[in-house]
Amino acid sequence: MLKGIIFDLDGVIVTTDQYHYQAWKKMADKENIYFDEEINHRLRGVSRMASLEIILEKANKSYTDEEKKALTDYKNDYYKKLLQDLSPQDILPNVLKVLDTLKKNNYKIAIGSSSKNTKLILKQIGLSHSFDAIADGTDIKRSKPHPDVFLIAAERLNLKPFECAVIEDADAGIEAAKNAKMYAIGIGAATNSELCDAKITDIKEVIDIIMKKA
Ligand code: BG6
Ligand code: MG
Repeated sequence: MLKGIIFDLDGVIVTTDQYHYQAWKKMADKENIYFDEEINHRLRGVSRMASLEIILEKANKSYTDEEKKALTDYKNDYYKKLLQDLSPQDILPNVLKVLDTLKKNNYKIAIGSSSKNTKLILKQIGLSHSFDAIADGTDIKRSKPHPDVFLIAAERLNLKPFECAVIEDADAGIEAAKNAKMYAIGIGAATNSELCDAKITDIKEVIDIIMKKA
C-alpha cells in the first residue's frame, strides 16, 4: 500500500530547464565549447559535475579536477542569480492542487531531487514548508540513477521504500526509483522510459493512480 509520494523538483514541481540552459551556455561560450538545447536535455536529473562531464565531451582540451570545479562554480553562481527571478507563479499547473489533495488524504509527501539548490528553489516558489521531508543533492554522493536520494526521502518519511511512489520527469530518476524498489510514475520526457510503472501527461492524474493502488 502506498503511503508516501516523493516528488522530483526540477521539471515536476517547477521548470528550471531554461535557467540551467542559460547558465551552462554562458560557461560553454566562455570556454568556446559547443552547447545546445539537445545537449541540455541530456542533463535532466543528472548531478552538476556529471552534467559538466557531458558538456565537456565537446571540448577540445582536457580539464583538471580543479578547473572542473571552477567551471561548475561559475555556472552555479550565474544559475543562482537567475533563480532570483523564480516565484510561486513558476509552480507548474495543478501541482498545488495535487499536494493539497494528497495531504487531505493523509499521504506523506517529500522532495527527492539531485539539486543542491533545492532549498533555495523551494524558498523562491514559497514551498519551503509544504513537504514532510526533503532529500536533495546535499544529502548524497551518488546521484540518480542511484537510488540514494529516494531512499533517504523514504527514511525521512519513516516509510519503507515499497510504500513510496516517485514522480519523475527524467529517465535517470525513473531508473533511480526502480533501483529503490519504489513505484515509478513518469511525466514529460520520462514517459519515454520503459521502466515507468505508470505514465502521465498531467500531474493531476497522479491522484487517480495513487488512490487505485491504495
Ligand atoms: C536536477 C536537474 O534536478 O538537478 C539537473 O534536473 C541538475 O539538470 C541537477 O544538473 C543538479 O542541480 P544543481 O542545482 O545542484 O546544480
Ligand atoms: Mg527533474
